[in-house]
Amino acid sequence: MAATGSEKQGANDVQSYYVSTPIYYVNDAPHLGHAYTTVAGDVLTRWHRQRGEKVWYLTGTDEHGQKIMRTAEANGVSPQEWCDKLVEEAWRPLWEHLNIANDDFIRTTEKRHTDRVQEFVQDLYDKGEIYKGGYEGPYCVGCEEYKLPGELLDGEGEYAGQKLCPIHKKPVELLSEENYFFKLSEYTERLLAHYEANPGFIQPESARNEVVNFVKQGLQDLSISRSTFDWGVPVPWDPKHVIYVWVDALLNYATAVGYNENPAKFDGTFPANVHLVGKDILRFHAVIWPAMLMAQGLPLPGKVAANGWLMVGGEKMSKSNLTGIKPQDLTSHFGVDAYRWYFLRAIAFGQDGSFSWEDFTARYTSELANDYGNLASRVAAMVGKYFGGALPADEAPGAAEQAVRDGLAEAVAEADRKVGDDLDFQGGILAVFDFVKQVNGYITEQEPWKVAKDDSPEGRARLASILYTAAESLRAVAVLLNPVMPETSQQLWDSLGAEAPLGALADQRVQDAGTWGQLPAGATVTKGAVLFPRLEEPKKDA
Ligand code: ME8
Ligand code: MG
Repeated sequence: MAATGSEKQGANDVQSYYVSTPIYYVNDAPHLGHAYTTVAGDVLTRWHRQRGEKVWYLTGTDEHGQKIMRTAEANGVSPQEWCDKLVEEAWRPLWEHLNIANDDFIRTTEKRHTDRVQEFVQDLYDKGEIYKGGYEGPYCVGCEEYKLPGELLDGEGEYAGQKLCPIHKKPVELLSEENYFFKLSEYTERLLAHYEANPGFIQPESARNEVVNFVKQGLQDLSISRSTFDWGVPVPWDPKHVIYVWVDALLNYATAVGYNENPAKFDGTFPANVHLVGKDILRFHAVIWPAMLMAQGLPLPGKVAANGWLMVGGEKMSKSNLTGIKPQDLTSHFGVDAYRWYFLRAIAFGQDGSFSWEDFTARYTSELANDYGNLASRVAAMVGKYFGGALPADEAPGAAEQAVRDGLAEAVAEADRKVGDDLDFQGGILAVFDFVKQVNGYITEQEPWKVAKDDSPEGRARLASILYTAAESLRAVAVLLNPVMPETSQQLWDSLGAEAPLGALADQRVQDAGTWGQLPAGATVTKGAVLFPRLEEPKKDA
């Protein structure tokens, strides 16, 4: 029996909080879109680690199928050589560069994966879930998917008279094959029941509605093998066929965590709490994948969260219409931390958004450099100037200080709920930056530079409280921003002298960040490097 309704609740002592990204096609190098999903997963991962949970973060690459095979052929190398080169020279280095803290990186050409894929599919065959049949229909190699005639677009211009894929805007090909089929149609009702019983299974709401409406039309059986090319995992009982690349790819979420190989690991990790995907591949994850799991009696993931598309010139940014912007072009200008922050800050997760140098520059300057970076350097400078760099004790707190403490408690609760539970990264980041604004306002009102002119014991006590309040606020900001911007948060942590009394930044619990008074009086505050330096002139427009 399928474990319908067994939504995984969350991490505990034995179960990891398991987050995945799509495994990306290695037909080309990664672009801003892939980095968007992977950074989001990394922030979610780091957030849950800072809740004190065991977390497993998986990413990897999808290396079989026609799309990869044709690219390799066009480049005059074998598919395996092509994949090896792209993975080692482009994909892994980018994740390292962006400080992605994944626990594993699965490649679908690895034996640990291909053996298990064969076992899974053989098992379905033995259970009578797979039969042989014929199929003819329009196929998009970009999507690696048969399309329904009704979803195709009419070509114009160079494609006049042809039918186009609605995502790739390229002509589809008519394929006609004898294939093996998975009885997907038999899962229509059970899938609908699962969506109904688990309203959080698909996020956001618009994605959920799209899937429900699609499934309500009734599902067709799914062709799960190909016999016209051989770059794939052989069907074990009929090796003239290879397994359909999407069935192969989806299984990475199971094979990477020990399916049929390491029961302790598998039971302690599977299923995923969150599959992060782009909305282009939502149906595969919210329809086909759960049906495959139901067919095996395996538990279903907690959530499939679809991010919107990064757009360029009104079109989904893709490997073929890149307009030349690489993640590295942006990180070399804005820095890695600002890059990690920008897309999550600027675009509501789940919605489409477009990138522009102007918008990034404006937000960097006002929010990172002016609001946040300046606050950090002003406070450190004043503790240096008025107290010789030793954090003073909070001697005379009053109503203004209480308001800051209250603001922090609210920001922590809101950020923790929004990032950690709702995957509302923008809302969570805004909660922290609104608090940064509040602290800036507090300093402007308290005018510590004026209070510093009062040498009386009362004046010194007021000054001490103001600077303690500001520094303790920054201590909490460093903790809350660490999942998003780990390098600058560490710089701030160092500048506050927090490590000696409080321990490593990554060990600080996000949910406790609002507990006031953690940074002890006497902490050694130093003016560190500027967190967000003034930008050079932009290199180009986009
Ligand atoms: O679909 N905006 O791989 P893929 C936002 N191998 N996100 C984007 C994006 C954009 N413009 N472009 C890409 C595949 N992405 C399959 C997945 S999983 C079992 C197999 C991100 O290389 C987004 O997450 O085409 C999208 O779903 C994914 O990259 C597609 O990557
Ligand atoms: Mg794609």
